[in-house]
Amino acid sequence: MGVAVLQRERWAVKMAVVVVVVVGLLAMASPTMQLNVKEPLRGTVQKSSSEDPRAIGLIVTAICCEKALNESGIFHVNSSVELLGRTFVLGKIHGADIVYVRSASRPAANLGITLQIMADNFKLGGVILLGLGLALTDSLSVGSVVIPSLIGSTGVWTWQPFQATKEGPLKFGDFNFPYPGDNLLGSVKYKKSQIYIHEEVKESFWIPVTAEWLQVASRIQVDSVEVFHGLKLASADVHLDNEKFYRRFLNLIFGASISDTTSITGALGAYSNNLRLLVVRGVSGNDTDMVAANAMKVVDRFIYLISVPPASS
Ligand SMILES: *[C@@H]1O[C@H](CO)[C@@H](O)[C@H](O)[C@H]1NC(C)=O
Ligand SMILES: *[C@@H]1O[C@H](CO)[C@@H](O)[C@H](O)[C@H]1NC(C)=O
Ligand SMILES: *[C@@H]1O[C@H](CO)[C@@H](O)[C@H](O)[C@H]1NC(C)=O
Repeated sequence: MGVAVLQRERWAVKMAVVVVVVVGLLAMASPTMQLNVKEPLRGTVQKSSSEDPRAIGLIVTAICCEKALNESGIFHVNSSVELLGRTFVLGKIHGADIVYVRSASRPAANLGITLQIMADNFKLGGVILLGLGLALTDSLSVGSVVIPSLIGSTGVWTWQPFQATKEGPLKFGDFNFPYPGDNLLGSVKYKKSQIYIHEEVKESFWIPVTAEWLQVASRIQVDSVEVFHGLKLASADVHLDNEKFYRRFLNLIFGASISDTTSITGALGAYSNNLRLLVVRGVSGNDTDMVAANAMKVVDRFIYLISVPPASS
């Protein structure tokens, strides 16, 4: 009996603590955060609250991109801090505060976790994901740079059995060699992503990149680098080495022009944390150093445009 009473008391104390915490959290939620809940996927992602100067997070996964950042000479490093195995480097680019990190990327969830650690520990205004991608159309040549406006996960599959009543768009039989026919692997249906946005879960196939930043990015001009805007990026945690037919399929079915393995997890992280987002992808080929350098030039220009006020004439 005595023990039971004691436990009930402890439980009452715990509940009181929970209530205090919940009330506290409700009090902290700012009214501006709640205003943006309608049509979330059409709006821009951004920190709505304070006027404080906030850093820009710059995240890469490929070592060639870190090399390109180093060699650009524009990153003035101040300090670095190790958090959960990641090295976050703090410094400035064109006067803007930058938090840079290179994240592990296999599986792609690593990048989402890295972004969360960054968002939890630094005052960020937005994140830039710098990396390489694979062209899904012949109109993108190696070394050009894509700033996609929509990112879709093409890695969330329901694998349908052979002769299912509702087949998915990826029918393995269509790829039989030498002639299309039946294939026991059946077909694949693609599912929408679930996105945490303004503390609710929404479903959408395409996730938009922050419109405000895309607008700034549309003014980017870099000598001898072709920059493409308004394209769709197909992101799936599958390295497409045997890509010849599947890339045609992704282009045809989804209208995607470029693919990568990690930007979807970065986009989900940016939305969850109400951060601005920009994705910059160099179109990859045999010379990754050249491609990374081109993508870095575009990031350099973007940070310049968002941080240096235009000279008054
Ligand atoms: C880039 O520079 C940092 C700081 O000097 C260094 O620790 C890192 O190894 C360099 N990365 C590459 C890929 O050269
Ligand atoms: C580097 O960081 C320290 C500590 O935050 C700060 O006091 C200092 O002004 C910074 N230096 C530069 C050059 O930004
Ligand atoms: C890369 O491939 C192109 C043709 O696609 C070729 O002209 C070039 O020499 C190659 N470069 C290297 C470094 O292999």
